[in-house]
Amino acid sequence: MNQKIRDKFIALFGAEPQMFRAPGRVNLIGEHTDYNEGFVLPAAVDKMIAFAVKPNSVGRFRFFAFDLNESFETEADNIGVSHTAWANYLLGVVAQFRKAGLTVPAFDCVFGGNVPLGAGMSSSAAIEVGMAFAINSMFGLGVNRLTMTKFAQMAEHEYAGVNCGIMDQFASMHGKAGHVVRLDCRSLDFEYFPLDMTNYRLVLVNTGVKHSLASSEYNKRRAECEEGVRILQKYYNGVRSLRDATEEMIEAHRAEFGDVVYRRCSYIVEENERLLAGCKALADGDFAAFGQLMFGSHEGLSHKYEVSCTELDQLVAIARTVPGVLGSRMMGGGFGGCTITLVEKTKVADFESAVKRNYKTPDGREPVIYEVVIADGAGELRIEN
Ligand code: GLA
Repeated sequence: MNQKIRDKFIALFGAEPQMFRAPGRVNLIGEHTDYNEGFVLPAAVDKMIAFAVKPNSVGRFRFFAFDLNESFETEADNIGVSHTAWANYLLGVVAQFRKAGLTVPAFDCVFGGNVPLGAGMSSSAAIEVGMAFAINSMFGLGVNRLTMTKFAQMAEHEYAGVNCGIMDQFASMHGKAGHVVRLDCRSLDFEYFPLDMTNYRLVLVNTGVKHSLASSEYNKRRAECEEGVRILQKYYNGVRSLRDATEEMIEAHRAEFGDVVYRRCSYIVEENERLLAGCKALADGDFAAFGQLMFGSHEGLSHKYEVSCTELDQLVAIARTVPGVLGSRMMGGGFGGCTITLVEKTKVADFESAVKRNYKTPDGREPVIYEVVIADGAGELRIEN
C-alpha cells in the first residue's frame, strides 16, 4: 500500500517523495463530550492514511487521491474552499498554517490508505493530521503536535463545514501503541492508560450506512447543548459548558429546558460520569464493568442524544446476545458508521458469525468487520527499497 503511494508519486511527479502517515481512531467511551469540554477516551488504530509529498517549483499545489484515482490542482498563492470535497481537507490545513503566519510554498502530494471512509473511524481527521504533519516536516516549520492538532480541527470547521470537537484529530496525532488516551477537552491535559488486550479484542462492525445526516445533525446537537448552557448560566455563575453541569442542576431546570434539550444535557452529564468510572474500571483491570458502561453509553446515545440509527441499534442488540461480549456501542458522530465491541479473544469468531447471521447492510450484503489494534499516532513513514 505505502509502496504503491510512493510509486504513484514517482510516476506522476518524477521525484522521490518524503513519506508520512496518520492513523484512524477508535473511541472507547465518551461520545459527543469533546465539544462540551468533557472527557474522551480514544486511541489511534492500525488503519492509516499514507502521504507522499515533495515541494515543487511550479507554484501550484498538485494533489492526487490514490483511492479515488482523482487529481486536483490549484494555484498555491490563491487557495479557498474548492468544489472537490476531498481536496478541502488538504487545503484547509494549508490555510491554517498560513493563518498562523507560516509560509507554505507549493508542493505535490499523493495520499491514500485503508481507513474506511464514512465508517466513523475518522478518515477525514487522519487526512488532516497527516497533511499537517507532512507540511510541518517538509518545510521545517517547527509547529508542535498540539498546535497541529488544532490546525487539523480548524481545517474541518472552515473547509469541511463540520464544527467538530478535537477528539479525532487529537487521537490521530497523539495516539500511542497499546494505550488509550484520556483527554480532558477543556484543559487539553491528557493521560495514557495502558490497555492490556491479552485476553480481549476490539471489533468494529460497519453498518454499511453512510452518515449523510451527520454534519447537519451534529451541528444541531452542538446548538442544543449550547442552549442548555445558556439556561444554566442564568442560575449558576460558574457554568461555562456542560462540563460544569451536574445532574441536580439539569433536574432543577428540566421544565425550562424542554424535553429535547433536557435529554441532550442529561446524556452529556451521564456520559462524562461513565467515562470517569470507565477509567477507574480499566485501572482495576475490570473489563466487565467497562463493558457495561459501553452498553450504557449506547443507550444514552440512542435514546437521549438521538444520534444512533436502526442499524447501529440492531448491531448492539446482536452483540448483547453473544456470550463473551463485554460491551458494545455506536462509535463517533453517529447516524451510521461502526459499532465498537469489546469481546473476549476466544469469542471473537462467535461474535462475528452472530453478526453475519443476523445482520445485513441496507444493500443486502454481509457487513464488513474489522479487528483493530491500537497503534501510534502520526509520524514519518520509512519505506525500504
Ligand atoms: C465526530 C467528531 C468528534 C466527536 C465525535 C463524537 O467524530 O469529529 O469531534 O465529537 O463525532 O464523539
